[in-house]
Amino acid sequence: MQGRGDVVEWRDAARALLMAGVAPAQVDWRIAGDESLFAPQATPPGPAVRPAPRVPRDFVDLAETVACHGDPGRFALLYRLLARLQDDPALLSMAADADVVAAERLAKAVRRDCHKMTAFVRFREVPTQGPRRRFVAWFEPDHHIVARKAPFFARRFADMDWMILTPKGSAVFEGGDLAVSAAPATKPDIEDPTDALWLTYYASIFNPARVKLAAMRSEMPKKYWKNLPEAALIPQLVAQAPARVAAMAARAVQAPPAHHARIQARRAAAVVPAAAPDTLAALRDAARGCGRCPLHHDATQTVFGEGPDHAALMIVGEQPGDREDLAGRPFVGPAGAVLDRALAAAGIDRARAYLTNAVKHFKHEPRGRRRLHVTPHADEVEHCRWWLRQEIALVQPRLVVAMGATAVFALTGETPRLGDIRGRALPFEPGRALLVTIHPSYLLRLPDARRAAEETARFHADLGTARQHLAACQVLPA
Ligand code: URA
Repeated sequence: MQGRGDVVEWRDAARALLMAGVAPAQVDWRIAGDESLFAPQATPPGPAVRPAPRVPRDFVDLAETVACHGDPGRFALLYRLLARLQDDPALLSMAADADVVAAERLAKAVRRDCHKMTAFVRFREVPTQGPRRRFVAWFEPDHHIVARKAPFFARRFADMDWMILTPKGSAVFEGGDLAVSAAPATKPDIEDPTDALWLTYYASIFNPARVKLAAMRSEMPKKYWKNLPEAALIPQLVAQAPARVAAMAARAVQAPPAHHARIQARRAAAVVPAAAPDTLAALRDAARGCGRCPLHHDATQTVFGEGPDHAALMIVGEQPGDREDLAGRPFVGPAGAVLDRALAAAGIDRARAYLTNAVKHFKHEPRGRRRLHVTPHADEVEHCRWWLRQEIALVQPRLVVAMGATAVFALTGETPRLGDIRGRALPFEPGRALLVTIHPSYLLRLPDARRAAEETARFHADLGTARQHLAACQVLPA
């Protein structure tokens, strides 16, 4: 055989031999020019007496890889495997089979060599008259991998002309055309002024605090050093590392960037007061820095409840929306407008109710330039419940209206079907009732006008019931 690292020549010969019924022991595989081997005995295969060999895809890959190895016995090994595969198609899955083990060992060495070639080829620029820059690299692989790796370099360095020379063949890429030869090349003598630049860069990215000699030796074995310009720097960089690390540690701490102070201030303010404030104003102030859950990171501000300090009616929604987040006030957006109409229809003066939310920060996700509402998770509702409990404790409403499932969960810790409990005053706490209804934004989402009208009427009726309850408690005129 002439080729090195080229499986095609072997494949064609192996196919013909196998079809002629030639057993592996009868074949002596030789590479022309390998002095170490005996003179070839070229026995032409006889006429085909067997069907064409069939192999699994894995064998094709394995053979292509093994063929690149420098071991003179690789082609005999592949032929043996090929012959055995005809009787035992699952042969490659037998991890303890001696031929399979041998082939895998060769393939592994080739793969490692390929990896090293990707990492350690260093191109040097050479003068050129043409429009494309021109580079030459010298590399010393262990195996015949130039043809295997050349397409990788052609893809990576498609916009320049280059040549990779090795003692085991060379690859030349010119004007977009790749040519590979198995002929051994000799080491070129090239000076590249940009070497100095590369060394400066390498020294600057070398982290003395991260020196791991064993890992470095295994990743960059010594045999590659002579062709790596940066290798000359390594002993010195390693020797200086302890002193540089000590100097780094001793260096004065630098001032943190300005935004660090702002973050710290926000964190400090985020600490929840140890004792519950005893006025709504103090509670509202404390809530400004709430960081009980991550929602405060992306919200503009805390949107706290608003209304009279001792309102008889408290209305609880889910969480502020986009408008509320910007304004810092609850129910000032589209859902607020629906609520306002319903309150008016029910004869309730909004100014006499305390309006708040289960969650005090706007949870959203960006969609283009818009911020889309995202329903808060149960744990976010639970974190925020503390504030709601304090609001109830200070306002002492006679009736709490829970609008939607999140409000019901925040107030009761339960998740009943709203339809089962809505529209009537339920016992809640001593001296206080709970009335459950839908969230006004639900009405905004209904596509069908007739359905929307029906649901709106029911919402108005629920608030009407709330008014009647308050009138019965003699806190609102009947
Ligand atoms: N939806 C709510 O639940 N609360 C608001 O404040 C606004 C919209």
